[in-house]
Amino acid sequence: ACGVVPEAWRFDCYPERGVVVTRELCEARNCCFIPASSSPPAPGRNGVPWCFYPPGFPSYSLVSVNATDLGQTGTLVKMVKTYYPKDILTLQLELLYETDNRLRVRITDPSESRFEVPIAVPKATEKASNPAYSVELSNEPFGIIVKRTSTGAVLLNTTVAPLFYCDQFLQLSSSLSSQYIYGLGEHRSSFLHDIHWNTLTMWARDVAPTELTNLYGVHPFYLAMDEGGTGTAHGFFLLNSNAMDVVLQPGPAITWRTIGGILDFYVFLGPDPASVIGQYLEVVGYPAMPVYWALGYHLCRWGYGSSNATWDVVKNMRNYGIPQDVQWNDIDYMDRSLDFTFDPTAFSTLPDMVKDLHSHGQRYVMMLDPGISSVQPEGGYWPYDEGLRRGVFINHTDGSTLIGKVWPGLTAFPDFSDDVTHEWWYDNLKRFHDKVPFDGLWIDMNEPSSFVDGSTVGCPDTELENPPYTPGETHTHLSHLTSSHYNMHSLYGLLEAKASARALKRMLGKRAFVISRSTFPSQGQYSGHWLGDNRSHWKDMYTSIAGMLTFNLLGVPLVGADICGFSEQTEEELCVRWTQLGAFYPFTRNHNSIDQKPQDPPAFSPRARSAMKQSLLLRSSLFPLLYTLFHRAHTHGHTVARPLLFEFPKDVRTYGIDRQFLWGKSLMVTPVLDPGVDYVVGYFPQGLWYDYYTGDSIRSKGEELRLKAPLDHINLHLREGAVIPTQRPNTTLFVSSGQPLHLVSSLSEDGSAGGELFWDDGESIDTLETDQYAHVVFTVVKVRSDHYRPGSSDHYRPVRSDHYRPVLRSDQYAPTTTDQYAPT
Ligand code: NOJ
Repeated sequence: ACGVVPEAWRFDCYPERGVVVTRELCEARNCCFIPASSSPPAPGRNGVPWCFYPPGFPSYSLVSVNATDLGQTGTLVKMVKTYYPKDILTLQLELLYETDNRLRVRITDPSESRFEVPIAVPKATEKASNPAYSVELSNEPFGIIVKRTSTGAVLLNTTVAPLFYCDQFLQLSSSLSSQYIYGLGEHRSSFLHDIHWNTLTMWARDVAPTELTNLYGVHPFYLAMDEGGTGTAHGFFLLNSNAMDVVLQPGPAITWRTIGGILDFYVFLGPDPASVIGQYLEVVGYPAMPVYWALGYHLCRWGYGSSNATWDVVKNMRNYGIPQDVQWNDIDYMDRSLDFTFDPTAFSTLPDMVKDLHSHGQRYVMMLDPGISSVQPEGGYWPYDEGLRRGVFINHTDGSTLIGKVWPGLTAFPDFSDDVTHEWWYDNLKRFHDKVPFDGLWIDMNEPSSFVDGSTVGCPDTELENPPYTPGETHTHLSHLTSSHYNMHSLYGLLEAKASARALKRMLGKRAFVISRSTFPSQGQYSGHWLGDNRSHWKDMYTSIAGMLTFNLLGVPLVGADICGFSEQTEEELCVRWTQLGAFYPFTRNHNSIDQKPQDPPAFSPRARSAMKQSLLLRSSLFPLLYTLFHRAHTHGHTVARPLLFEFPKDVRTYGIDRQFLWGKSLMVTPVLDPGVDYVVGYFPQGLWYDYYTGDSIRSKGEELRLKAPLDHINLHLREGAVIPTQRPNTTLFVSSGQPLHLVSSLSEDGSAGGELFWDDGESIDTLETDQYAHVVFTVVKVRSDHYRPGSSDHYRPVRSDHYRPVLRSDQYAPTTTDQYAPT
């Protein structure tokens, strides 16, 4: 029977790494052994498994099914033990028809409770009345088949491989509806995942973005296009936080292999990609509405060395009239890297600098690491002394404080899953804020990262430490911290962000600004994210687009990469192009590593500086649009930076695009991502597009076009039918909030267009709930047909009339006139 299984459908029976799988080993598992015919796998990939499950490999059987108020429940039984310890031979199956577009499936151990992820998910109270899905259950072997009712498309079919449910090895495979699959963060890859034997490991980890390895955050969610190119999409979310491998194979198929928790998953029916994301975010939570200055330009580096040096950069920016809303400091502001302190010598003027920022309408954000120094003289370091007193630190199983090592040396780690810790965190922030009135927090190293494995005394030699199967890059790190850490590790960044956002709101009475390195589903409710320690390479600039788009799918739209690159020395051309692209990250921050030459805009030649300034002014002018898009994210779970495929799901040519993107549905950004060129090739989906600067029109049949892109230019195009709100730019958004607003409209062929503006004071909490906002909807309709000549093959220039706004008003911000905003 082995020979009948096509290579694309071989499910790995011997996934253990570092083992040379022989016929003997394989057959001892009763699996098929056939060396693959195809060429050897690409480096870092597994390739076709030589040892795979034969048809009929023992799995669970569904022995009973009963109807429930919300769906069905059933019992699964397994007769033959697997080759992993502690099989759970009887399982409970629960099918919950939660909404018409959301199915939830839970497979649990009815005899003993197992770890479940502590995030709040909605509780359905009645069964969906008209579900867009149908569920078929296979009894022998057990499997679930989920279809889209309207088309019959198979979205999930778990009969393709055996189900495993052992204490430390749970495995579920399914066919995929198509090869078009997105999400599954956090990894560095193209936006569209490669399904050729691609293993994506999930386990929060401090490592500079590298392909084929697990990074800082964990997001077991994917969006996939349905089979058949209909443009419909669906989503899948496995609510599990244990270390896991997710294997994509050309079948197309997927395997989830996790080493703990339960199998608890959702299927979202869309039917369009944007609705899938909305439905996913209904489960994990919509992102918070950011405070207005979060959307400004942020400047940061590791190693300014002193508060005066930091301050000089700010003053320089002001002198050149370059927009800057926020100045940051990395750990070097701290006294000996201790949280909640500042260096009394080198950073003695820090409080004055922060006050000066405030008096210029600017903000200050500084870093905090979770590790709290445990070796300061008793009575000399309140955060540790008080933390010990309140019992906030993570312990060993014997109750002693677990000690690891981070920047300040030996450290204890706050347990953010506990409310007592939240209170302690707040108190520390408050005490520090009384000295340095910071405005937001940058939480780093919260995977959590430690420079020793486990703890200073290692970890107990238990089965948690030595699971029968170890996913990807976790082996040396699984040991970290206590037993519940086995389950909670990847939630650390989420829980720290939650504590931080709560504390900031309480302390400042405004929306909280938190940027976190480690993330987990529902993170967007509490923080944004930056993509970590990239390098000053052109390739890193390119992959940042996929990272940004993926995090928009994952409900963390406030995201960006370190502009100009973090490690290694940047160069001027790269930094200019990156600043242009970065001006269209939802979160725009230039950050640099220690020991690298400065890379803030004033550090470059007048030409480069002016190009950077132009792109930042352009961003500032688009703030009303960006703010409105965040409002849509907050209230409807929409993406802000959006992949083209979301707007053109029927156009397969958009499925792999990650060198271009949209803001919302209409503004297309086509950045230059290569050195030494003054043009860029971009794809224009079918329709009428307008050059944002000139109003010149392009009527595309769905084609690639070569665009001019001199060094001071980033290509922007407005899709037909849009009205976007803009404003006259300024160097800070605070001032800009009082700036005149404009509308830019791009008429469609029939002379119509529409758009909206959400506007409030930019910082109060819950302005929507308390009715303190304006929401304005703009509609352009054709009044007299002789007022315009849509898309004539040469350039369409709209005619002004009293009835509608043409594409560009003469007083609209034109990015070449930067001198207008010269220093005061
Ligand atoms: C690691 C962070 O990813 C990086 O941004 C920061 O500069 C360093 N830690 C130092 O704090």
